[in-house]
Amino acid sequence: MSTILTRTEAWRAVDEADEPVHSAALLAADPQRPRRYSVALDDLRVDYSRQPLTDTVRQRLLDLAQARGLAEQIEALFSGAAVNRSEGRPALHTALRGSYPDSREVDGLDVPAAVEAELERMDALVARLHSGAWRGYSGQPLRHVVNIGIGGSECGVTMAHEALARGDEPLQLHTVSGVDGRELAAVWRRIDPTRTLFCVASKSFTTQETLTNARTAWAWLEAEAGRPVPEQFVGVSANPEAMTEFGISPAQQLRIWDWVGGRYSLPSAMGFPLAAALGMTPFRELLAGMREMDTHFRTAPWTANIPVLLGLIGVWQITLRGLQGHVALPYHPGLRRFPAYLQQLDMESLGKSATQAGERIPHATGTSFWGEVGSNAQHSFFQWLHQGTGRVIAEFLVPVDEEDVPEAHRGLALANALGQAQALMHGQAPSGQGAQAEQRRYEGNRPVTLIFFRRLDARTLGRLVAMHEHRVFVQAALWGINPFDQWGVELGKQLAKGLLPEIRGEAPPGTQGDAATAQALAWIEGEDG
Ligand code: F6P
Repeated sequence: MSTILTRTEAWRAVDEADEPVHSAALLAADPQRPRRYSVALDDLRVDYSRQPLTDTVRQRLLDLAQARGLAEQIEALFSGAAVNRSEGRPALHTALRGSYPDSREVDGLDVPAAVEAELERMDALVARLHSGAWRGYSGQPLRHVVNIGIGGSECGVTMAHEALARGDEPLQLHTVSGVDGRELAAVWRRIDPTRTLFCVASKSFTTQETLTNARTAWAWLEAEAGRPVPEQFVGVSANPEAMTEFGISPAQQLRIWDWVGGRYSLPSAMGFPLAAALGMTPFRELLAGMREMDTHFRTAPWTANIPVLLGLIGVWQITLRGLQGHVALPYHPGLRRFPAYLQQLDMESLGKSATQAGERIPHATGTSFWGEVGSNAQHSFFQWLHQGTGRVIAEFLVPVDEEDVPEAHRGLALANALGQAQALMHGQAPSGQGAQAEQRRYEGNRPVTLIFFRRLDARTLGRLVAMHEHRVFVQAALWGINPFDQWGVELGKQLAKGLLPEIRGEAPPGTQGDAATAQALAWIEGEDG
């Protein structure tokens, strides 16, 4: 039997029921629609009434989820089954925030005990830092934390720090991810080597960018101190042997496990630099928010289930209606890095063209994911959202409490978010004369989802992150793909490794690359005009 979504009866039922409708017409026909098309988890409210979705299509999408075995797949995720089939392991990021599998054990490891123990170790390291007892080589308390990591070993920490830091914390966080050394050089200028803790964060502890930066940082500190300074290095990894070999003492190693995916690792010890900068209280609040969303996802009926409904909308809009992207538009400057964080989560998880059973997929799956703080985006790509020929899901993330907003700014963000959402939904008939008229037309009916929350705090951020993790899981479950592997990133890494000796002049030209690469290298060397 085929595993392809679009070859199923349940999919055909969705397809048959789906007719072109204008979301504004749906609203006009049913003033209760915003209430009937909104779901909430406490003060987090998701309003999808601006999606051109009818009751019949919604019901058929819910039936489709049933037919694709979503309930069983959710249980498999939470229970620690090997849902990451291509790598033969579970994906237990939910356990990191206390949504423990009922059986407790995975591969002989008591998961709750291991998670709690690692949190305690993290807590102890953070307490030592904050008490001032952890001193650098000159005897001064540490004041800077530099995270050296990339992808899932960096994005979450940077995003959450941007969202939650007030700017007056006793420890300053810096992050270095890029491979060319310029980022590291810029950080040198902002820190004091005698008062800096380096955190080398890498699940595999083999990532070229991270290890190159880590070795440079080690050598730099050694040169400054006149001796190696292992006491100013912490490591976070699933590969303790490699951390030890690098020179990080076991007491300063934090563990994650191979069942923690990189882009799902913020609630693990990968969050250590965040906790170091902000303290364990907000970190534990972040975990609590995630756990609340886990429970909601696992237990709420699907008609009121935020990740399930968002996932179904994604599948319907992308696979049936041909939408080309998903745009996140936070109306809060603290969520500046949230779109980039979600971009990795979404695109690395859903950018797949084969089912878990190994069939080529003939329909669209994951799309492009991008975004920007809403008020900035209004002055860059909103023109395209309103009148461009492409279609994307526009997801507005809107805080409603404004106690920290100066009087003159009150209501502005909310008015802009609601106004833009209304314009995208309703559009506007042509105005003016002749050629002008058509150019001024707004078609409307652009798919919009509004996500409201009271205020941006650690708990809310945790809920938002877990909401998207589970939304991505639902899409993957319906498409039949594995959201937890990323084979597509390997080939380029291998080729880069092979080319390095040529680029450094340690191997003869043309050893590794194809004709196009050889020509580019020749041009760089000034040998080909
Ligand atoms: O780019 C691929 C990737 O494997 C990501 O999935 C991951 O988050 C990142 O590299 C970093 O990997 P690591 O934590 O092993 O250094």
